[in-house]
Amino acid sequence: MNVNFWKTLPKPIIGLSPMDGVTDAPMRQMAQYIARPDITVTEFVNVEGLARGATQMLDDFIYFENETPIIAQIYGIELESFYKVAFIACFLGFDGVDINMGCPAKKVALRGAGSGLIKDPKHAQETIKSTRKALDDFTNGKSMEEAELRPKIITAIEEMYVKYPHMKLRCDENRKNKNYIPLSVKTRIGYDEESVEDWVTQILETEGVTVDAIMLHGRTLRQKYLGLADWNAIERAGKIIKKLSPDTIILGNGDIQSQTQAQEYVKKYEIDGVLIGRATFGNPWIFNKKEENIEITEKMRKDAALKHCEFFEEILPHRQFFIMRKHLAWYMREFAGSRELRGKLMHASSAQDVKDIFNS
Ligand SMILES: Cc1cc2nc3c(=O)[nH]c(=O)nc-3n(C[C@H](O)[C@H](O)[C@H](O)COP(=O)(O)O)c2cc1C
Repeated sequence: MNVNFWKTLPKPIIGLSPMDGVTDAPMRQMAQYIARPDITVTEFVNVEGLARGATQMLDDFIYFENETPIIAQIYGIELESFYKVAFIACFLGFDGVDINMGCPAKKVALRGAGSGLIKDPKHAQETIKSTRKALDDFTNGKSMEEAELRPKIITAIEEMYVKYPHMKLRCDENRKNKNYIPLSVKTRIGYDEESVEDWVTQILETEGVTVDAIMLHGRTLRQKYLGLADWNAIERAGKIIKKLSPDTIILGNGDIQSQTQAQEYVKKYEIDGVLIGRATFGNPWIFNKKEENIEITEKMRKDAALKHCEFFEEILPHRQFFIMRKHLAWYMREFAGSRELRGKLMHASSAQDVKDIFNS
């Protein structure tokens, strides 16, 4: 059996864009709880760190049974580390692996990782090849020991199996059925200048590999998050992708504010779908395809904020609660008294504190 979820997902595909420090497992559970995005992607995980044994990074690879398909996103520079961490993602049962070639942060891009790879297409192609090889070796039965994963990592994966048995089940299922694990690239339209035609062509020319999806943010690295996303460039990229590799999915990304806009842009720019990032802050309702115009009441916002806190405490009990405060501020808006509540919530240190503040 060869199951490539990109080929079976109904279109348009409206997914949750990966955001480091935001789209952790509790936030993604919240998205699933309110209105399922069509795909979800983990926060990016650094391949060098994890391959060398920084197993605390596996927190970013926690996902739950209801997330399907779920994609592991990885970034870095060393080919061998890409191989190992893609292999780890397979053993954790992920449905797909995505390579981040879009992060503009100096500490990432200046050392050639993230959108630094746009400047070095040869290395980008080698990265794709190395990652693809790991996915194929996994389905062909290679073991964690044969892949030379450190014993510490193997132990950590086994511990995750105990805590999250669905990961082991999915891994076993993929292996048994020799399922094809798809590979995608999330990137930008250029480095200093827009160069999307050349860049997507280079990605697709990777020898011997079909990149199953390209997720394209319509800004250059230099723009970071300034200006507006260039959707005409995304449209042009889509045309080239469909010409060079008709089976490759193209998802556009940048500045989408609502479900209606998402659906409109898919049609207007003739792409397969979109990823929504910042407009999901405190707004898991954005993925609701049917009831786009429902009013989000104060009660709905408070209930969602509290539920999110509960997911956080359940899933990441060892993490500091202050991580939740930005989410709380994002939920509390557009109702009388929301500003005052935001101020109070900045002192909350638990779900119980949040409940008490709401009840006071
Ligand atoms: C706080 C933050 C963290 C991000 N982290 C990641 C990441 O880990 N991986 C990634 O591919 N993109 C990351 N991005 C980029 C987003 O996925 C998305 O491409 C970008 O925000 C544009 O989409 P939007 O206008 O819908 O927000 C991040 C963006 C933000 C704002």
